[in-house]
Amino acid sequence: MFSPKKLIALAAGAVITLCASLTADAASYRYDYNMDGVSDSADLQALGDYLLGRGTLEKDAYDSGDLNGDGKVNVYDLILMRQYNEEFSQKAPKGMWIASGYDGVRYFWWNGDKSLFCPASTGVSTDFTFTQEGSSLSLSLSTGGTAAASIKWLSDKSFQLNWSGTGTETFTYYGSYKINTTYDISGKYATSGKYGERWFVIDKLSGDHRKAGSNDRSYFSYFFDSGDLVLVYRDGSISKCGFTRIDRDHFTVTWPNKTTEKFTRRSVEVKDGITYINGILIANKTYALPESYAPGGLTSETNAAYNEMKAAATADGIPMWICSGYRSYSYQSQLYNNYVARDGKEKADTYSARPGHSEHQTGLAMDINYADDSFLGTPTADWLAKNCWKYGFIIRYPKGKESITGYKYEPWHVRYLGKETAKLVYESGLCLEEYLMITSKYS
Ligand code: DAL
Ligand code: ZN
Repeated sequence: MFSPKKLIALAAGAVITLCASLTADAASYRYDYNMDGVSDSADLQALGDYLLGRGTLEKDAYDSGDLNGDGKVNVYDLILMRQYNEEFSQKAPKGMWIASGYDGVRYFWWNGDKSLFCPASTGVSTDFTFTQEGSSLSLSLSTGGTAAASIKWLSDKSFQLNWSGTGTETFTYYGSYKINTTYDISGKYATSGKYGERWFVIDKLSGDHRKAGSNDRSYFSYFFDSGDLVLVYRDGSISKCGFTRIDRDHFTVTWPNKTTEKFTRRSVEVKDGITYINGILIANKTYALPESYAPGGLTSETNAAYNEMKAAATADGIPMWICSGYRSYSYQSQLYNNYVARDGKEKADTYSARPGHSEHQTGLAMDINYADDSFLGTPTADWLAKNCWKYGFIIRYPKGKESITGYKYEPWHVRYLGKETAKLVYESGLCLEEYLMITSKYS
């Protein structure tokens, strides 16, 4: 038996408890008496009907509605609910929210007078300030525009903005973290790992991925949370992944299930029958050059880089000369056929390229001093291995990589890549095929 006075006193006690818990953990409650997925004033009807004996509550509705956790849904919960609604209609968004349904995925950092938003499609963030009166928001953008919206809280971790009649955008709470809009992973990537080979195409803060040989794409947007990569899929699911940068062209992603996938930047362009990967002209057993491709000599850049290298070698007392530079398609053809006549095709293929497949036809490759095993272990060989990257060259067919390059170890054969890329390949310890994640195999 409660007297009305006692009831009010009890209710007041409950409200005090609620205020304490709101401050301590505003994010922990949710009620949904009408089971529509939203905590709002519409739940009042369902709760009222139940309390007046005019309806029942499903178990989930009942459990979610026991706001003071006393094991019962009763008038105390009604009072709490009204209190929540009141608080919520006034509540201003704060922190990092992922928005969708209006203009693709947008990231919002609500932080009073220093807020910003960033569409995943552009990766360009705009600062804004906002004021709120009741459920009406007025935004003032740093670009000069203004926007108005009404806010409707769906739960403590979700709300909707109705942009002055133009559309509704749904916001999901991500954290108190401030969005990091610096991105540097735009590009095309091939991956390797447990999922097999996949392709990722990343542009600004969005992208897609698919399995090699498939056209079924999964679309996502992303941002960085400190060092972690956060992918947001179209269905709203979020994958927070470990991200480790290896070098300019490589990084690894560790998925939430701990599977690690290595990403290799790889954009392929075929121009006049010549394949360029990340802008690097490729001639190997997989990628051939047209017979007509005939620069006629070393390219001027390659020549200049060689002269710089030779000067440095000479200064170190190292003898250096080019024993074979540019070779035309037809000259390579003669060479290769002679080797086949001497050693048979299978053996010749381990040390001589078929016509159209030789790097010597590119004008970007050369053999230093002696193109045979007499070069092995000479001071020039040691110097070349240690220093050629500084001048933009790599040892193209390294020891231990025979099954990947398709050729036996050739310490004398260098390939010009330019200083920046040569340094990266050298430091990676990978051969060019591994670095670009490509094959070298005759089809
Ligand atoms: N010796 C290299 C593989 C060539 O023939 O081009
Ligand atoms: Zn060579």
